[in-house]
Amino acid sequence: MNLIDFYYFSGTGNTLLVVKKMQETFEENGIKVNLYKIEESDPKSVNLDHTIGIGFPVAFFSTYPFVWDFLKSLPNANGTDIFMVDTLGGISGGIVGPLQEIIKKKGYNPIGAKEIQMPLNIFFIQDAKTNETKVKKGLIEAEKYALDLINKKSEWDRVPVLSEGMYLFSKGLLKLTKANMHQKWFKFGIKEDECRKCGICVKLCPLKNITMEKGKYPERGLNCEYCLRCASFCPRHAIPCKFNYKSKTYRGAKAKEFLK
Ligand SMILES: Cc1cc2nc3c(=O)[nH]c(=O)nc-3n(C[C@H](O)[C@H](O)[C@H](O)COP(=O)(O)O)c2cc1C
Repeated sequence: MNLIDFYYFSGTGNTLLVVKKMQETFEENGIKVNLYKIEESDPKSVNLDHTIGIGFPVAFFSTYPFVWDFLKSLPNANGTDIFMVDTLGGISGGIVGPLQEIIKKKGYNPIGAKEIQMPLNIFFIQDAKTNETKVKKGLIEAEKYALDLINKKSEWDRVPVLSEGMYLFSKGLLKLTKANMHQKWFKFGIKEDECRKCGICVKLCPLKNITMEKGKYPERGLNCEYCLRCASFCPRHAIPCKFNYKSKTYRGAKAKEFLK
């Protein structure tokens, strides 16, 4: 392992922090790491001569549909090493096993899978101090995992019995959410009295699902996957997420990190 192409997605910054910590640890140990955003990458163009890293948040007990699309569209390989890391606020269950199946069938060599607890960015956002402690712990885990990968001590555990069931449940939840996107409750709107039409939400949306005509308020389409990036980074908190208690939002990084 001397060159890693690390593909990642992060909605609100947690996964970005973890991926950057891992990059730092690899590079301190002489391993070059290229970071690529999943939302801007073509899976067919991955270089199978490099080690592949994948990082993403857990969502609906597995991960977002566009991340699945990327993973499922990876080209067939002949023993390329691959590892994954996800960040989560509670439990997953529907990702490590099913993803191992997919990449094994494609001919990759799974060298490590790790799930790292970070602050929850949905439902109930904890106080800043609690979140800071969680981030610190999470980044220690990230460093340890990178060292384990370097020292060949990491594992991609066998498929747990429940994993497939959890994956199917997750897919059902996602379908249900998407199918209801046009409903008032699911389509969290934009508070026009707060919005200053700065357009940062348009730039930040990984799915290009927010548009803004000149002089008008931003509009959200029906292709939202609830990564919460727009809600988290709106400087005026003008995009409330109804899933969140009191519409409180969480940010693990600065907005500019996503605009690079
Ligand atoms: C729509 C949505 C669904 C989520 N589902 C889960 C879940 O099933 N299990 C879990 O532990 N955390 C869940 N989370 C929390 C995130 O996985 C967690 O906060 C993650 O670290 C966020 O990473 P990010 O900041 O890189 O987007 C969910 C978050 C969102 C926005």
